[in-house]
Amino acid sequence: MRNLTGFCYQEKAMSEKQIFRNLKKRTFRFGRVLLVAFLLSAHGFSGNLSVEHLRCEYLVNPLGIQNTTPRLSWILTSEERNQVQTAYRILVSSTPEKLANNNADLWDSGKIESNQTNQIVYSGKQLQSRDECYWKVRVWDESGAVSESSVAYWSVGLLNYSDWKAKWITHNVEPFTGDKYEELYLPPARYLRKSFKLGKQIKSAKVYASALGLYELRLNGQKVGDACFTPGWTDYNKRVYYNTYDVTGLLKEGENAIGAILADGWYAGYIGYALFVKLDKVRGFYGESPSFIGQLEVTFTDGSKEIIASSEEWMAGPGPIREADILMGEVYDARLENTGWDQPGFNAENWEKADLGLKLSGALEAYPGVLVKHREEIQPIEMTEPEKGTYIFNLGKNIAGVIRLKVSGEKGEEVTIRYGEMLHDDGSLMTENLRKARATDTYILKGEGVEIWEPRFTYHGFQYVEVTGLSQKPDLSTITGIVMNSDTKQASTFTCSSEMNNQLYQNILTTQFANFFDIPTDCPQRDERLGWTGDAQLYSVSAAYNADVSAFFTKWMQDVDDGQLWYGAYPIFAPIPYIRPYHVPHSPAWSDAGIVIPYNMYKIYGDTLLLRRMYPGMKRFMDFQLSESNGFLRPGSGNNYGDWLSLGKETSKDLIASAYFAYDTKMMFEIAQCLNQEEDAVYYQHLFQNIKKDYTRQYMNEDGSLKEHTQTAYALSLYMGLYPENLKEQGAASLAKMITENGNRFSSGFIGTKHVMLVLSDFGYNDLAYSLFTQTEYPSWGYSVVNGSTSIWERWNSYTKETGFLGGKTRSAMNSFSHYSFGAVAEWMFSKAAGINTDGPGFRKIIIKPSIGEGLQFMNASYNSINGRIVSNWKKGDDRLELHVEIPANTSAQIYVPSVERKKIREGKTLIGKSNDFSIVGINGIYTVLQAGSGVYDFTIEK
Ligand code: BGC
Repeated sequence: MRNLTGFCYQEKAMSEKQIFRNLKKRTFRFGRVLLVAFLLSAHGFSGNLSVEHLRCEYLVNPLGIQNTTPRLSWILTSEERNQVQTAYRILVSSTPEKLANNNADLWDSGKIESNQTNQIVYSGKQLQSRDECYWKVRVWDESGAVSESSVAYWSVGLLNYSDWKAKWITHNVEPFTGDKYEELYLPPARYLRKSFKLGKQIKSAKVYASALGLYELRLNGQKVGDACFTPGWTDYNKRVYYNTYDVTGLLKEGENAIGAILADGWYAGYIGYALFVKLDKVRGFYGESPSFIGQLEVTFTDGSKEIIASSEEWMAGPGPIREADILMGEVYDARLENTGWDQPGFNAENWEKADLGLKLSGALEAYPGVLVKHREEIQPIEMTEPEKGTYIFNLGKNIAGVIRLKVSGEKGEEVTIRYGEMLHDDGSLMTENLRKARATDTYILKGEGVEIWEPRFTYHGFQYVEVTGLSQKPDLSTITGIVMNSDTKQASTFTCSSEMNNQLYQNILTTQFANFFDIPTDCPQRDERLGWTGDAQLYSVSAAYNADVSAFFTKWMQDVDDGQLWYGAYPIFAPIPYIRPYHVPHSPAWSDAGIVIPYNMYKIYGDTLLLRRMYPGMKRFMDFQLSESNGFLRPGSGNNYGDWLSLGKETSKDLIASAYFAYDTKMMFEIAQCLNQEEDAVYYQHLFQNIKKDYTRQYMNEDGSLKEHTQTAYALSLYMGLYPENLKEQGAASLAKMITENGNRFSSGFIGTKHVMLVLSDFGYNDLAYSLFTQTEYPSWGYSVVNGSTSIWERWNSYTKETGFLGGKTRSAMNSFSHYSFGAVAEWMFSKAAGINTDGPGFRKIIIKPSIGEGLQFMNASYNSINGRIVSNWKKGDDRLELHVEIPANTSAQIYVPSVERKKIREGKTLIGKSNDFSIVGINGIYTVLQAGSGVYDFTIEK
């Protein structure tokens, strides 16, 4: 349903004819309704602005939302320069027909004089459960010309307990016995069904469904929706999410059948490293057995309604999925298929009545995030046979997801599929780094011609697939790789003159997508896959440049908030289902995600709601930090991971803890101001000054050098504003010297690395930043690329051709090849190297300030901000530098052109001094600063 609004942002190039054809293809009633609305909507508006990409709560046409005052947004584009919106008017109607007649019975905002295009709160009639809202927006430009969007939609979910007629149901089952993996407890998936008759003509129908566990919903033999791993991972004791589907097109008058397949998932299955570190409990952290809830609501053409709700009247039976566990894998015995179990007319004689599931203790709310979907399918590029009958397929890149298997053979033949990120020298699969994740799928053939199968309730992190047990020699078509992740849309592009760095960017994207899997996991392969807060906060700006993570982080911030510990600290990972004995569940630079990420979301998307929601918790976290401090310095207490995976001399944990305390305080000052909490703002301002005073006394010498001589200590002190004004330059010079003396290479870990890059560019050490960026000697990003990586590695030296996987088992136990943390250099690539930045919240005022240095000839970067696409390209020539800049409609920019000689700068053919399209603001260091409106600009700067 994503592109039903027609003039979808990313599909701008579509002609109206194509859009019409696309709309016509939709069979669901929802599509038809929007088509009607689209055709009925008044066109003929003449404005220069085109209104696109309408969203509600960051989602395109969301079904069943929880928020009854949702935030609406759109994006403006224009072919003309200097286009702004001077006013808007939002119309919201309960039917498409009413909207087409401009009868806004739910909300007519009236004409609002404003350039705002996002974070606009619906302020119409009080919305109720199940309300349907069709909306469009009209905008005015400076000349008074009007443009109108096409129609978008949202509907409200089930808001009240009384709306739910359905009951939680389950099926009490035991694991299959005689299993070859006896040490694990792996119950089969449960199959639940109900047949029902619909006696009248159907007008529309929706299903609301959820599980404590994972569910796949089926209707008349078809999967409902295209999402996987629903309803996602939360602290199920506090909240569980339901999903809403429009199923009008799947129902028919007469006999129908609804079904659900139910698996343990994060709720009852194995999660994280519990087995590895030998916790008393290793699975079932929220409950022992999964439950399902589903409510189908049908509206007939005569206006009457019927509800089919899950209850103990549903039937439960066995099926082919004998084991289904996220970490361990799936066993599918095709001989046990109950063909037609999810269709009408199935004989469920041997099935039992479903059991009633547990009652929920927390909230049941609409899913606010980004659903996990199949992103891409890839074919293997190579197949080898390192041992007779053992086939290894190379997918060409390290992904998260599953495979589709295509086989034929005898009934009962058992095909075993194992997954790995790397191969040993002898060509065999490397699985040591998976630790206790069995990551093995088994398919048992039914022996009926070509059989095609893909697992549903497990996923793996892998590039290589090992298949054994085949009676016939496979070929490349035997396996298809299915890339899965939360469907966050890519938001950036990046190319430059270094193929190595282009590959690095691809590796960063691949690894981000592999790990943004309902929550931001640290890695997708081993028995961990936890939402480590340190990794996420460090990477959050990079994540937002690379993809639209607005709804994704909205959801996960709730998990972080739910995980806040009783004493105020945010947890080391979220959701946090268990705590290791003697293990403190908070840590400096990890817990700080509770402040850093909402702050970044505010900067990037202008999101103040998240700040407001989390503010009380943030204050508690600040109080906790202060109460733990000696004076105003925090000891590196808690489970302090320090500069995780750094090399050489360590930065003290105390320094990192205090630097982050100061950084949090600085952000809290801004957040308090933004939320009009003036007293708090003053308090945090003073607190910051006090921390800074103690910090400089403790860690700094009078000449500006630090008592801890590490790259990370300097980078954090400078980035977090802890240097006295008069000593900053010395601090930056010391950092630069230290890197040069280290052969232009890093010694920093997770915490320091991205800050080193940002600080070098902030202080004008661009050549040095580029030498780190293009470096291929160990340790560097380039080192992994020249060693053949297709992803970001956990360690600088996860693998070398000379030493393999770091030798010994201990280290290979913590050696992921898909760990996004070191990919946080993306923040530098976009904000510094290409120089795309926001001045204040939400990219309404843009800064283009490319930091150009030795080592690259050109760079092309784009970023789809919440206000539209921003481009910054630069290219060095023999006698000139070229700069291509695109600023989206309804925004303005300060463009920093890297030359102070005005007479050498032209835009197009015109000297900048003579152009009417922007004004010269002044000189800033090596830059001439121009104030520009929206548009496309091509600058040349003569040498
Ligand atoms: C994870 C990291 C995480 C760390 C805490 C590791 O096992 O993979 O990414 O941040 O633990 O130091």
